[in-house]
Amino acid sequence: MALVTSKEMFRKAYEGQYAVGAFNVNNMEIIQGIMKAAVAEKSPLILQVSAGARKYASPVYLKKLVEAAMEDTGWDLVLHLDHGESFEICKQCIDDGFSSVMIDGSKYSLEENIALTKQVVEYAHDRGVVVEAELGKLAGIEDDVNVSAADAMFTDPDEAAEFVEKTGVDSLAIAIGTSHGAYKFKGEAKLDFDRLEKISRLLPGFPIVLHGSSSVPEEFVALNNQYGGKIPGAKGVPEEMLLRATKYGVCKINIDTDLRLAMTASIRKVFVEQPAVFDPRQYLAPARDAIAEMVAHKMRNVLNCSGKA
Ligand code: G3H
Ligand code: 13P
Ligand code: ZN
Repeated sequence: MALVTSKEMFRKAYEGQYAVGAFNVNNMEIIQGIMKAAVAEKSPLILQVSAGARKYASPVYLKKLVEAAMEDTGWDLVLHLDHGESFEICKQCIDDGFSSVMIDGSKYSLEENIALTKQVVEYAHDRGVVVEAELGKLAGIEDDVNVSAADAMFTDPDEAAEFVEKTGVDSLAIAIGTSHGAYKFKGEAKLDFDRLEKISRLLPGFPIVLHGSSSVPEEFVALNNQYGGKIPGAKGVPEEMLLRATKYGVCKINIDTDLRLAMTASIRKVFVEQPAVFDPRQYLAPARDAIAEMVAHKMRNVLNCSGKA
């Protein structure tokens, strides 16, 4: 039982053509739900913490909850900073004991992104911590992208190869059509597999990361809406596309929105069906189980990582 880096996990995932799920955590029930699934599925696991999660729960609570999860289950875990904005926040998390950090310099120019990532890599590697970076911009439906705009935002394969070489980064998040949140596509869902294939050919053996990989299952949107939700026409990445991506060097797949949908649908159901309930345990326990079911489904059917721990 230990906090580990993702190095060995990604090496095995690359070889075995599967991906490790990176799930966002914000509180105890989410962590417990994810852990239940990982142990039951004998699956490798990355728990990731965003700036918003740190603000919501406070870093010390999250750190202690993750320690409790390891002690309780005996599971090896990667504790990862999701979307680190600056050198300072990455440094803080490394000093706090995270085993992996993401420096997200995707909004900067190529040169600035390289310089910032390099600075984080040097600090992290000296302390045995691994680094994920991002190149290209994840478009959301709100960005209203047309084809040429998409081309400008998606990761350029040659730049990806140059970026990895110049920074020494351990994994790279790329933009090929996925995006954060529940509204990813207006029309047909589409990922740029030609681009992914080129990037993976230029970076043999190197782990690629996909953010914004919730599939936003229709039945979970419907379940939320059946119990009083008003989630309009959401659309995510079809699960078979994610499974296909694992054949092209994608070793880490980030999922948050689908957990939120599962958890919230479960809580809504309790409130509608049992309006007399006011003990938080009565709606948080089923919500925790809903998270566990969603994560187990991803491990089994999308990431193909069940039995790989
Ligand atoms: O990439 C973003 C994750 O879904 C985390 O979201 O910033 O609301 O915690 P958050
Ligand atoms: P989703 O919003 O698609 O779940 O993506 C989460 C993510 O990429 C976290 O970094
Ligand atoms: Zn992300």
